[in-house]
Amino acid sequence: MTTATAQAHPNIAFIKYWGNRDDTLRIPSNGSISMNLEGLSTRTTVSFQPSLPFDELIINGHEVGGAGRDRISYILDIIRGMANIHERAEVISENNFPSGTGIASSASAFAALALAGSKAAGLSLSERELSRLARRGSGSASRSIPGGFVEWQAGASDEDSFAFSIAEPGHWDLVDCVAIVSTIHKKTGSTEGHAITETSPLQAARLADAPRRLEICRRAILERDFNIFTSIVELDSDMMHAAMMTSTPALHYWKPASLEVMNSVRQWRSEGSQVCYTMDAGPNMHVICHEMEAQLIEQRLRALRGVQDVLVARPGGPAKIVNGK
Ligand code: PMV
Repeated sequence: MTTATAQAHPNIAFIKYWGNRDDTLRIPSNGSISMNLEGLSTRTTVSFQPSLPFDELIINGHEVGGAGRDRISYILDIIRGMANIHERAEVISENNFPSGTGIASSASAFAALALAGSKAAGLSLSERELSRLARRGSGSASRSIPGGFVEWQAGASDEDSFAFSIAEPGHWDLVDCVAIVSTIHKKTGSTEGHAITETSPLQAARLADAPRRLEICRRAILERDFNIFTSIVELDSDMMHAAMMTSTPALHYWKPASLEVMNSVRQWRSEGSQVCYTMDAGPNMHVICHEMEAQLIEQRLRALRGVQDVLVARPGGPAKIVNGK
């Protein structure tokens, strides 16, 4: 087969990845835990064609060149090396959600690319091999290969840095209500952010405490303990943003509306709701609750000033091959 189409979901990290021990191989400085987001997805078709002089990339109908295309070619080069082929590829990718705003479009994009590209090249990679391959494009993409609730073990080399499922999507009825407060493309992407995070005096403390947070979060998910889950997820998000805000140059992803959502979530919790927040490298807020309260939380978020839209996502499955373009 020279053409294949794959679909992958983005994921929301409950224990965050921030900083690499190897920036080129994207070996992270700490392990992380996430949930795939059902309903949000990237669908990518890769076709290797002998007539193409170079790789072509089309995202949401627009041709992309420069650094964006180079990043795709880097993964395609790894695939070509593994499959011993030389053809250039056409890559057509569609996202059904806004990119560059802290909903990890790079995660679903590189997971879909790794799966579609390897399949189109005639390879049949294992989940672990796909996770490692996706990781080379964007670290968090390693977590969009397996389904449900996923842990990425940091590892120390290319071989042992990969993600695996710790629980199926149906294990826990968590819902991620993503409050969109901005759809403007962020100025500083995560690749640059990872590279400067060691300049923050807080990063060492964040890393030293990471095994403890991972253990607590993993246990809270397996035991479906929302209160413990809340305390560790909010702590971990705040710790990552503290390291971001204190790196050189400083990265401030929060907007006034992000803070308004945080305060509202704390208020709703004090009134008895089981709800918590987390945010990635962008101003949008991921508000996590149970299925039972999802509609209410969505309505409350929509009523907040500064919230433009709310996307609702439940635990999603693994990256998969799909038919057609
Ligand atoms: O995969 P990257 O390089 O886009 O980094 C993702 C970083 C965060 O989204 C902020 C945290 C995470 O673990 O997803």
